[in-house]
Amino acid sequence: MKHKILQLLKGSGDKFISGQKISDELGVTRTAIWKYINQIKEDGYQIESISRKGYRIISSPDILTQEEIVDKLDTKVIGKNIVHFDTIDSTNIKAKEIAANGEKEGTVVISEEQTAGKGRLGRNWTSPKNKGIWMSVILRPDIDPMRVCMVTQVAAAAAVKAICEMGIDAKIKWPNDIVVNNKKICGILTEMSGELDKINYVVMGMGINVNLDEEDYPIELRDIATSIKIEEGKAIDRKILVAKILNYFEELYNSFVREEDIEKSLEVCREKSILLGKEIQLIGKNEVKKAKAINIDREGRLIVRLKNGKEEAIISGEVSIRGLYGYVD
Ligand code: BTN
Repeated sequence: MKHKILQLLKGSGDKFISGQKISDELGVTRTAIWKYINQIKEDGYQIESISRKGYRIISSPDILTQEEIVDKLDTKVIGKNIVHFDTIDSTNIKAKEIAANGEKEGTVVISEEQTAGKGRLGRNWTSPKNKGIWMSVILRPDIDPMRVCMVTQVAAAAAVKAICEMGIDAKIKWPNDIVVNNKKICGILTEMSGELDKINYVVMGMGINVNLDEEDYPIELRDIATSIKIEEGKAIDRKILVAKILNYFEELYNSFVREEDIEKSLEVCREKSILLGKEIQLIGKNEVKKAKAINIDREGRLIVRLKNGKEEAIISGEVSIRGLYGYVD
């Protein structure tokens, strides 16, 4: 009921909506409405109420709920259902749990905070409250399970397009990091449940360091991780950014799964790559090799030229990549 009242209030914009109208439309008493309005206020909405005129929203809180995002989406499937938490261990864990119970494609799990955010290679992902975008999208693509890793590149392309559209000079560090000024602001963790020839579901988890301050990071990460706010010197509207990412993601994901066209995403990955043309280090389990990153091929592999002139195609996850003098420089 609270959601429905909020929808009606939002729908009437800066005009008042009377208690009677809400009561007629939703079939609840005006006393009940008053109680729900108080709950909505507790969620951080500023609501003006004037007798005989009714209620109107003066300002909305900085939270990533369905009500706050839905009017900015132009998608058909992705983000049409947003499951929002104030706090959770990890949105990827939650998304996998509900996907295993049949949750439909496109549902997005978002939390204001993660207490056990997961990074790749078993690392932790710092996810303080109300400062970033910590979200996981449930997908059920009808594709060869071998191609699931490409979902990461689709997501990276969508994120970099959205972030750049907000006036920020972001780049992709192949295959799944977004960087600003050579430091990481976004990571993607794609997980899958399936068999050799059949996908049950895919969860694309994305963490974006939007409005974190330096003290939000552990000291050991401060040289390689940053946030949009730290780099740009101002906070960014998280709701607008989430919606832009989901809008681009649906477009690129549909090309990938329906038309089997990953090129649209790969073009963005090449154009916005911070690695291409650079000398890099390939950090394997037992050795570190120097190479030059020269292309991303049609399979999404990074093509590098080794010191001996030989070219190699690197599959994502095979090696870790660094610039010669730091994270990407
Ligand atoms: C990386 O190591 O670069 C990947 C980080 C992925 C973090 C995101 S935050 C939302 C989602 N939930 C998680 O627990 N992890 C991903």
